[in-house]
Amino acid sequence: MPYVVTEACINCKYTDCVEVCPVDCFYEGPNFLVINPDECIDCNACVPACPTEAIYADDELPPHLADYAALNRVYAEQWSQYNITEKKEPMPNAETAKDAVKSSSDILSWE
Ligand code: SF4
Ligand code: F3S
Repeated sequence: MPYVVTEACINCKYTDCVEVCPVDCFYEGPNFLVINPDECIDCNACVPACPTEAIYADDELPPHLADYAALNRVYAEQWSQYNITEKKEPMPNAETAKDAVKSSSDILSWE
């Protein structure tokens, strides 16, 4: 039952989540973070830490966010060299992006 980062993180990247993760299993893309499902120990610490409420246990994902479980797995592999363990400044338009309509097609990748 790994945890999953979803839509609300896109274009925000507040990164409060990475500070509380005991196993450092967050990976960073240009405008989104993901959790490596093979490393997450299901501790739940990141859920209340996220200001956008972007993180869910995979068995509690709302139906419209179900695809994010697979997306976290795919991007965690693609971005494996971008492990992030320290909080940094959110994206410049995070406050606006927090409430904007977004979709998985807005996720950018390094490649
Ligand atoms: Fe890290 Fe715990 Fe969140 Fe999993 S549930 S990503 S181990 S803080
Ligand atoms: Fe994203 Fe929330 Fe972490 S916005 S970077 S999942 S604190």
